Amino acid sequence: MFDVSLISFSPTGSTFRVAQTIANEWGKRHQHIDLTLSNLTQTVCQSPLAVIAMPVYAGRVPTVAIERLREISSRGAKAVTVVVYGNRAYEDALLELNDEVEDLGFEIVGSAAIVAQHSVVSALANGRPNEADNESIRHFAHSVVTKLSQNEKASISVPGNRPYREGMKAPLTPMVTEQCLGCRACVTQCPTQAISMIDPKVTDLSKCILCMRCVVTCPMRARVLPEPFMEVMQLKLSAFVSVHRENEFFI
Ligand SMILES: Cc1cc2nc3c(=O)[nH]c(=O)nc-3n(C[C@H](O)[C@H](O)[C@H](O)COP(=O)(O)O)c2cc1C
Ligand code: SF4
Ligand code: SF4
Repeated sequence: MFDVSLISFSPTGSTFRVAQTIANEWGKRHQHIDLTLSNLTQTVCQSPLAVIAMPVYAGRVPTVAIERLREISSRGAKAVTVVVYGNRAYEDALLELNDEVEDLGFEIVGSAAIVAQHSVVSALANGRPNEADNESIRHFAHSVVTKLSQNEKASISVPGNRPYREGMKAPLTPMVTEQCLGCRACVTQCPTQAISMIDPKVTDLSKCILCMRCVVTCPMRARVLPEPFMEVMQLKLSAFVSVHRENEFFI
């Protein structure tokens, strides 16, 4: 059993849940560094082993998550890296995450690309990770422990290209309907402070990363993506609805 640090950026929760499934197999969670917070209260990895997890946005990891990750001091800890994606593709995301994590001085002992329900188009990988996925994730966590106990030093190679593909710029923000009560839950939850405290109906397009957190946290379901945009996305991603992507593990 290990003390474990969980470092994650997870606007709508699936990335965190995957990281938690891994960490729970290892032992006691020592700390959680939540990279959705703009002012990190903890910046030092306090455990000998960390799980570092991020979602995939347009085949990359979110820039804001990487910027905050760079504030973390590894203290030479070992790390398992995880990207979570919505059944389309993860492209350069895992490679990018691993490059950043190694630059911080972590020793990567395992990596994974895990499929979860798409946070924009829920028909993709609907209901995943399911029990079979969780079983494979737990099995991976155990393989890492075995590797550590055998003191193996095999380096991890993951798919992806450098230079990485171009990142995503949000073309729009969620819109706000008349249902809004002005509670400002979305304002405090937004990872990039894109929503105005003075008027929560106003969202700064230059800050919004379209992460969907405000959409899922609004108690009135008042924040929604415009219907024409959703129709375009559904059409664009329709080919991936019937595809069953397998989780991938690198150890
Ligand atoms: C802005 C945005 C871009 C995304 N891009 C991709 C992508 O390129 N490939 C993919 O398979 N899934 C993509 N997804 C789906 C997410 O990677 C997936 O839903 C992930 O589980 C979200 O993590 P979270 O629940 O921790 O927020 C995207 C989601 C969002 C919001
Ligand atoms: S969380 Fe919903 S109801 Fe509350 S301010 Fe934001 S949009 Fe309005
Ligand atoms: S305003 Fe944009 S960045 Fe902020 S929570 Fe909503 S979708 Fe995410």
